[in-house]
Amino acid sequence: MLNIVMVGPPGAGKGTQAKMLADRHGYLHLSPGDLLRQAVKDGTALGLEAKDYMDSGRLVPDDLIIELISDRMRKAGAVPGMILDGFPRTLRQAEALDEMLRELGQRLDVVVEVDLPEEEAVLRLTGRRVCRQCGANYHLLFKPPQRPDVCDACGGPLYQRSDDSEETARARLQVYGKETEPLISYYSAKGLTRDLDGRGSVQEVAERLERLLGLR
Ligand code: AP5
Repeated sequence: MLNIVMVGPPGAGKGTQAKMLADRHGYLHLSPGDLLRQAVKDGTALGLEAKDYMDSGRLVPDDLIIELISDRMRKAGAVPGMILDGFPRTLRQAEALDEMLRELGQRLDVVVEVDLPEEEAVLRLTGRRVCRQCGANYHLLFKPPQRPDVCDACGGPLYQRSDDSEETARARLQVYGKETEPLISYYSAKGLTRDLDGRGSVQEVAERLERLLGLR
């Protein structure tokens, strides 16, 4: 069982890489961002509570996130590995994760810190488009759909995330620096961090990640 945390600024490519790695190796991919967006779409109590935080680029309160992730982890069943993408983001969440894994008789193996210069992150965020139907990700410059605003995979309509405007993207990057970056020293002190250069094409980063994890 390989348990991986992916940490890095918004737009660094965590979601793109985590999904590819999970598909290739049968790992469970857990992303609080995806789960929260689904809850907002479904109009659940969690979604209603989380929406304002997400739209303004602030972090959703720790208790809600910890409950969401611990519930999913307990229901995970037998998988060869787990990739946590965007969790933990605060020290409190990191301590809660330690506890969750302890209860399951597991441990965290590696924390991948994805690095990307701020201006590249802003470019990736503001150009992102997402399929409203199947959730596939596109980018206006780096991965444009064949027909404007239409998903290549399912024909669904593409939209821009409400938190991907330039103003909110920059606010999210600031929140990352203030609230999440301190986690890196928490994990470095445990000897768990590995640096991943997030620059270059999706395929180049994917190969770098697999080498770093000893998977190729
Ligand atoms: P979340 O959805 O997790 O957003 P994020 O961390 O800001 O990450 P992103 O999805 O924006 O970026 P990413 O690094 O995954 O990049 P991606 O691969 O998509 O969280 C959203 C909100 O939910 C938070 O602001 C907060 O409110 C709440 N939340 C979530 N987790 C929480 C937690 N633990 N605690 C409290 N609140 C929480 O790529 C971005 C774009 O770039 C895409 O268009 C993609 O196609 C493109 N791209 C990717 N890689 C490349 C590449 N190599 N070259 C060119 N383009 C690329």
